[in-house]
Amino acid sequence: MPLIGSDAVAVAAASDALAAGRLVAFPTETVYGLAASVLDIAAVGRVFEAKGRPSDHPLICHIASADGLAALVDEVTPAARALAAAFWPGPLTLVMHRSPSVPDAVTGGLDTVAVRVPAHPLALALLRRFGGPVAAPSANRFGRPSPTCAADVVDELGDAVAVLLDGGPCAIGIESTVLDLTSDPVQVLRPGRISAEQVAQVIGRAVSATATGPARAPGMLDAHYAPGARVEVVAASDVPTRADALAGQGIRIAVLAPGEVSPLPAGALVLGPLGSPDDYAARLYGAFRQADAAGVAVILAVPPPAEGIGVAVRDRLARAAAGSSRRTG
Ligand code: TXA
Ligand code: MG
Repeated sequence: MPLIGSDAVAVAAASDALAAGRLVAFPTETVYGLAASVLDIAAVGRVFEAKGRPSDHPLICHIASADGLAALVDEVTPAARALAAAFWPGPLTLVMHRSPSVPDAVTGGLDTVAVRVPAHPLALALLRRFGGPVAAPSANRFGRPSPTCAADVVDELGDAVAVLLDGGPCAIGIESTVLDLTSDPVQVLRPGRISAEQVAQVIGRAVSATATGPARAPGMLDAHYAPGARVEVVAASDVPTRADALAGQGIRIAVLAPGEVSPLPAGALVLGPLGSPDDYAARLYGAFRQADAAGVAVILAVPPPAEGIGVAVRDRLARAAAGSSRRTG
């Protein structure tokens, strides 16, 4: 078991562990991250190993404030400055041309680097205490749902983590918006809480919103974020018929939906109602884990409306469905 804590002593232990090349898990407002010092190539290698992640998938660099950006990128552009002022600390990751000081191990050999300032007091306390940038992907095994509480991190990675900072449940619940500032137009590579429209307003230029589909960035696979159960994305009106058909074959189902869905067969696990798109996002990965713990074989997921973070939730559901159907047939 990792050392688990949430006070100043735990933050100091986490910082010391990073300095010693050991792995630390920490909370952010989106999901929990698995951290190594950006400049410690061996420790970065251990992050890929612990996750079972292919080494050409780039990691996000986390910094304590926008002041740390200049050391990681080629040039702090006016757009980056404006976005940092508007959204940092917060769930927006900027992809920019990298400084030669960022190791290939972190960027997967790309000439760009992804950077963000997370909005969680424990994350910021760790980054300030450590005093340098920290590379951190989500703290899950490759392809699995991101962890949104400390217990999820233990389930995913266990002893691979030396120190786990426990910040309770993550407020947002799905990963940050990844924005490519090196493309023209600027492009959302991964949708999240901060929308393409919000970005466009700040930079005063058109922003291309991502569509769910084949990988646009390394690591943005179309099959990802999947629980053990198979995920099927269905309209609310189709759930009762589909649920009956599956239950009739003796298949254990769960239903994940923004509102009430009925009628459902006896024994169906109801993971909701999830309410607003923000509530849906906050509970999505926990619901996946709850379904797996209950031995559910198929999750029928009714997507939230494509408003606000609903766009990002729909993206994750589509990827989870692609991931689980690929695995199970
Ligand atoms: O919310 C989050 O972003 C969380 C927390 C821990 O901060 N982190 C996270 O990291 O989701 P990860 O490694 O699971 O996702 C990083 C994604 C990559 O899969 C890739 O799509 C994109 O960010 N990315 C990173 N560096 C990139 C680059 N240089 N060019 C394009 N995309 C990049
Ligand atoms: Mg991830």
